[in-house]
Amino acid sequence: MKTSSELSLTLAFDLEGFFNERQALIDGELDRLLPGESVEPVSVHKAIRWSVFAGGKRFRPILMLTTGEAFGASPGVLLATACALEMIHTYSLIHDDLPSMDDDELRRGRPTCHIRFDEATAILAGDALQTLAFQTIAEESLLSAEKRVLLVSELGHAAGTPGGMVAGQARDLEAESRAVTSRELEGIHRLKTAALIIAAARCGAIIAEATDPELEAVGRYAAQLGLLFQITDDLLDITATVETLGKTPGKDARAQKATYPSLYGIETARQRADLVHQEACAVLKQIDRPTKRLRAIADFILRRKA
Ligand code: IPE
Ligand code: IPE
Ligand code: MG
Ligand code: MG
Ligand code: MG
Repeated sequence: MKTSSELSLTLAFDLEGFFNERQALIDGELDRLLPGESVEPVSVHKAIRWSVFAGGKRFRPILMLTTGEAFGASPGVLLATACALEMIHTYSLIHDDLPSMDDDELRRGRPTCHIRFDEATAILAGDALQTLAFQTIAEESLLSAEKRVLLVSELGHAAGTPGGMVAGQARDLEAESRAVTSRELEGIHRLKTAALIIAAARCGAIIAEATDPELEAVGRYAAQLGLLFQITDDLLDITATVETLGKTPGKDARAQKATYPSLYGIETARQRADLVHQEACAVLKQIDRPTKRLRAIADFILRRKA
């Protein structure tokens, strides 16, 4: 019989194996979908590949695959949409790092896109990733035309404005150097980070033909997960090293960003993370499907080191 610490080690090992296997699947498909580096205009295609293949966690596509599989879809029919999510996410990082936004020089352990190339190329690489994301879904022949339209609409709302990531990024910048309420802060997090994470979970469930109540529950789980993701991101900005983080820590304080730790301090931010994690897990209990992996993903986000 295994002790509880041996058991948790086994679980942690399984999750790592699961993540590695899914990352390889996603990276292979991304390689197939993205234009090659020798295709003209080479500067844009090199910049896209520089940022995409820099070693991101692939959290959003993995969440999408895991949710879709929990509702009975096979990885094959989920994969193109999963890659589209990673394209949107990577575009958001390239633009987030620009001098006119967060002005960062390190991302995924390497110089940011505009530092390695130049600003115009970084803007275009982001633009191209965004359009390729929607094109990828629209052209996925393994999905019915009706599903493709649903997915494009879901992703458009989540990535854009007024209810999506672009709106959140605008509010994040606008809130720099001024006092925000906790309600306002959660509103920013919900838009800039949780919106795409909610879309990831919902897209998986849409492809698997989950019922409306199931879709709604999955959305509530992912909303908590998204909030948790940004709280841990803000904590890591204070507590992690550049080596583990792959980006420059301490930037939020310097830019006077509105974050949980800046509003409440590290300890209260950690407690908030615990509570939001519990809320995400509580929603999973209401879903009558195999949600063990979705639970493991929530645990991973709470404890992540990068
Ligand atoms: C960073 O996202 C941006 C946020 C929304 C906080 P990730 O932490 O998922 O970045 P990668 O993809 O692993 O590099
Ligand atoms: C990013 O939030 C949210 C995005 C939509 C990219 P941050 O600005 O905190 O992300 P990092 O810390 O630069 O990865
Ligand atoms: Mg930012
Ligand atoms: Mg940033
Ligand atoms: Mg951050």
